[in-house]
Amino acid sequence: MAPPVVVLSVVGARPNFMKMAPVLRQLALAPEFRPVLVHTGQHYDDAMSGVFLRELAMPEPDFRLEVGSGTHAAQTATVMQRFEDVCARVRPDLVVVAGDVNSTLACALTAVKLEIPVAHIEAGLRSFDRSMPEEINRIVTDSVAHLLFTTEESGTRNLQREGVAAEQVHFVGNTMIDSLVLCRDAIGPLDEAAPYFLATVHRPANVDEAEQLGLVLDILEAASELAPVLFVTHPRTLGRLQRVATRPRLVETDGPPADPERGRIYLLPPLPYVVFFRLMAQSSAVLTDSGGVQEETTFLGVPCLTLRDNTERPSTVQLGSNELVGLDRARVRSRLESIVCGRWKAAAVPPLWDGHAAERVLAVLRARYRPD
Ligand code: UD1
Repeated sequence: MAPPVVVLSVVGARPNFMKMAPVLRQLALAPEFRPVLVHTGQHYDDAMSGVFLRELAMPEPDFRLEVGSGTHAAQTATVMQRFEDVCARVRPDLVVVAGDVNSTLACALTAVKLEIPVAHIEAGLRSFDRSMPEEINRIVTDSVAHLLFTTEESGTRNLQREGVAAEQVHFVGNTMIDSLVLCRDAIGPLDEAAPYFLATVHRPANVDEAEQLGLVLDILEAASELAPVLFVTHPRTLGRLQRVATRPRLVETDGPPADPERGRIYLLPPLPYVVFFRLMAQSSAVLTDSGGVQEETTFLGVPCLTLRDNTERPSTVQLGSNELVGLDRARVRSRLESIVCGRWKAAAVPPLWDGHAAERVLAVLRARYRPD
C-alpha cells in the first residue's frame, strides 16, 4: 500500500479555525492522508484561539510556532522562519492554508520556496482595495498556490481574470459555513429576545485612527437610539477605545446583558463561537466590518450593515442579506429604521454554502493524490 499523503494544515488567527476545522475532520476520516496541524500563534489569547479549538473539536496542533503579535513584516518573517523548520521535519506532500491573515501568506510563501505544493481555502476573493493588509495576503497567496478552492462565483472569476489555469481552481463552497451548520444544534432554540443590534468592528481602517473610531462610535450611538447595541470587541479595538474620550452610552460588561436597555452600547469581550453565533442569530441586525460575519449573517438571513465601502465577498450583497454602508451615519440610521419596521431585502444563501464544502475539498484532494 502506498504511504499516506502528508497534509500539513495551518491555522494562526481566529477566522482560520472555523475555515479549517471541517477540512481537518474530513482528513482525519481518510486513511490515505496523514494530517499534521501547525498553529502559528498569531492569535494566542484563549478567547481568540484556544476556545475555538475546543468548541470546534479540533485536534491538538502538532506544532505551535508561538509567533505572537508584531508589525506585519516581523510577524510574517517569524512565521516563515519557524514554519520552514516544521516543513523540513515533516516533509509534507501538501500545505493547506485558509483565508487571508498574515499566517496564510507566510506559510504559503515558505512552502512554495521549498517546492511544496500549496492549497488555498477561500481563494480568489478580492476587495480591489490594496490598502487592506488582507488584500495583499490574498493576492500573493493565490499567485503561488497550486490548488485554489473558491467559496463563491466571484472568486473563480477573479482567478480566471488573473490567468490562473482553470484546472487549478475548484468551486467547493464555504467551509466556514460547514462549521456553522455543524454547531447549529449547539445553540439550541432561540428565545423571543427583545430586539438588539450586534456590532463588531476591528479593521485597522476603522479603529486605528481616533477620527475613524469616533465615526464608528457616532454610528453605534445613533443605532442605540433604536435598540440596544451589543458591541463585541476585538483586542485591537479595545486597545484603541482606551485612547479615545469615553462616551456616556458605553457600558463595559463581561457577557451578554440579561436585560439590555435602549440608548446603551454594551462593550463585550471577544466571545466564544457558539455564544457569538447565538447572539448573531437572534439579533435584529448586525453592524460589522468583518469578512466572516458578512457571510455568516447571509447564511442566517440576518440583515447585515457592513461599515466599509467595499467587500471581497460580493455574493453577500448580491444574493445575501448584506449591504455596504461605509461610515455614513445617516444611511445606517435610515437602514436600521427600515429593518426594525420589518423591511429588508429578500435574501438567499449563495450556492454550495450547504455544510458540505470540506467534503468537496477532500474529493478534489483524493482525485489528485489517490485517483483510484
Ligand atoms: C487579524 C487579521 C485579520 C482578521 C483578524 C481577526 C492579519 C493581517 N489580520 O487581525 O484579517 O480579520 O485577525 O481577528 O492577519 N491581540 C491580542 N490577543 C491575541 C491576538 C492579538 O491581544 O490573541 C492584540 C495584539 O495587541 C495585537 C492586535 O491584537 O497587536 C492585533 O492582532 P493581529 O494578529 O496583528 O491582527 P488582527 O487585528 O487580530
